Amino acid sequence: MKNQLLAALVVCVGPTLVAAEDVASSDVIFSDGAVLASLTGVAGDAVAGRAAFINRKQGNCLACHTNSEIPEQSFHGEVGPPLDFVSERWTAEELRGIVSNAKMMFPDTIMPAFYNGVEADRTLKKFAGKTVLSAQQVEDIVAYLQTLSE
Ligand code: HEC
Repeated sequence: MKNQLLAALVVCVGPTLVAAEDVASSDVIFSDGAVLASLTGVAGDAVAGRAAFINRKQGNCLACHTNSEIPEQSFHGEVGPPLDFVSERWTAEELRGIVSNAKMMFPDTIMPAFYNGVEADRTLKKFAGKTVLSAQQVEDIVAYLQTLSE
């Protein structure tokens, strides 16, 4: 009975409830290092993206990049280029590609792939099929990077 009610509910409000499927990390399509299509179909949230960018267990981007928009964090690494005004250098699609798997843009880079199940499979069984960031976190970080302009 409960199930039937639920099913009826889903049918009624179906189109608004159905979340777009995430693109699986092994199915991401790169073109010249960029990823043209959203990974989730849901617009990125720049505020959540900023948090994931800082979080040491998620993006941990400050380990390698300085970013003067985040002065409250004391340690910024300098392994990669500063990300100030990065949205003026790369399009949203290119940023999505770089964050998903930077090797598709910079073949020899040490920047980790954040959304690439294939590479994760090769490292540890425990992480097989897992990605450092979720598809939505990639979209959120891309939305945040787009706010870094003059
Ligand atoms: C282990 C170090 C490392 C980490 C962690 C890292 N990056 Fe990078 N990143 C690099 C390096 C090195 C480059 C330069 C590309 C190359 O190797 O030629 C780079 C390049 C970039 C670029 C292109 C910048 C430009 O101006 O050309 C962007 C954008 C970027 N990273 C975003 C991020 C984001 C967002 C995160 C966190 C989700 C992140 N990076 C985490 C090392 C890192």
